[in-house]
Amino acid sequence: MELFDVYPLYDVTPEKAKGCYVYDDKGKKYLDLYGGHGVISIGHTHKDYVAALTEQVQKMGFYSNSIKNPLQEAFAKKLGLVSECEDYNLFLCNSGAEANENALKMASFETGKRKVIAFEKAFHGRTSAAVAATDNKKINAPLNSQHEVVFLPLNDAELLEKELAKNDVAAVIIEGIQGVGGLDEGSKQFFQTLEGLCKQYGVILILDEIQSGYGRSGRFFSFQHHGIHPDIISIAKGMGNGFPIGGILISNTVKASYGLLGTTFGGNHLACAAGLSVLNVIEKEKLMENVNSVSEHFLQRINEIEEIKAIKGKGLMLGVSFDFPVSEIRKSLIFEEGIFTGGSADPNLLRILPPLSVTKQEIDSFIDALKKVLSKVTHIENRI
Ligand SMILES: Cc1ncc(COP(=O)(O)O)c(C=O)c1O
Repeated sequence: MELFDVYPLYDVTPEKAKGCYVYDDKGKKYLDLYGGHGVISIGHTHKDYVAALTEQVQKMGFYSNSIKNPLQEAFAKKLGLVSECEDYNLFLCNSGAEANENALKMASFETGKRKVIAFEKAFHGRTSAAVAATDNKKINAPLNSQHEVVFLPLNDAELLEKELAKNDVAAVIIEGIQGVGGLDEGSKQFFQTLEGLCKQYGVILILDEIQSGYGRSGRFFSFQHHGIHPDIISIAKGMGNGFPIGGILISNTVKASYGLLGTTFGGNHLACAAGLSVLNVIEKEKLMENVNSVSEHFLQRINEIEEIKAIKGKGLMLGVSFDFPVSEIRKSLIFEEGIFTGGSADPNLLRILPPLSVTKQEIDSFIDALKKVLSKVTHIENRI
């Protein structure tokens, strides 16, 4: 059997990883400023994380959600504390798409309605309702497009109110900071208006913090920069530092009932052990403080590069924007300089999503490498 060929691959085979570095099968070292799509939060193979998972797998890896699992309760308690979201309840699942699928379903249960408002360039995952709320026709099959979704531009409160006033909307779903779409985000004022309008029209506000959450923006959740209180928050990526885990935080004004949501694997013992150890490390190593100070350093140093047209995002969820495509830069960074960066739907944008433990020195080596690569790329462009 061969693999179903859906991923275009870089010719690199990582074999091991430590902290902010990945090592390939030939022993070459790469600085990881992408964290495998923003998944690596506390650093690769962190010793506490490895110990927690090893200890748990030796005791018990899995049993179903029909027995007591104190690890889930401990995890919910810790997450409430670290995120300052103690007035929410937690439902655990296995991925980002699944988190949004459950969030949208909960909104529909709550309101008895089905229409969803999402935003242009949004990415919410590939399951049925999540992909329908994703602004990319290419990845929506006819089966998915039966969902009723309206896409609005970010920051247009007038259009938003016009749509909400039709009184047929179950949910508004919005990323704290857009990831795949290219690092655009709603303004503070827009988020606050959005919250007010959702309350006014009885619509569930879902904050997709799958990429922008877990400390990446410098606050635990990026919406916390705007002082709002969403009804549902979806989480995944950084939660398990690579172990597949996702979840939704549901405001405690929403009532649960037996059987309303469910999953076989979600919240299993190993996932909870991974999740708990990530939260412990974020707290113990003050990683959110590190995000803020390294981000400040990044923003200062990147100013030295005049080819850069704009910097988008917050904390360590950053987009470096040029007025030409970045694919050659990304390739040179990997193969010549040994640095992983990311792309997005915007071909001119370099996406930076390092582990939250990245250091200023590691950012310095990226800036030096980027200057080197740019001087070659610009040289080639000038010759054409
Ligand atoms: C904002 C956002 N939501 C949802 C998802 C989907 O997550 P997953 O790939 O774990 O299903 C992603 C993945 O990139 C994302 O960035």
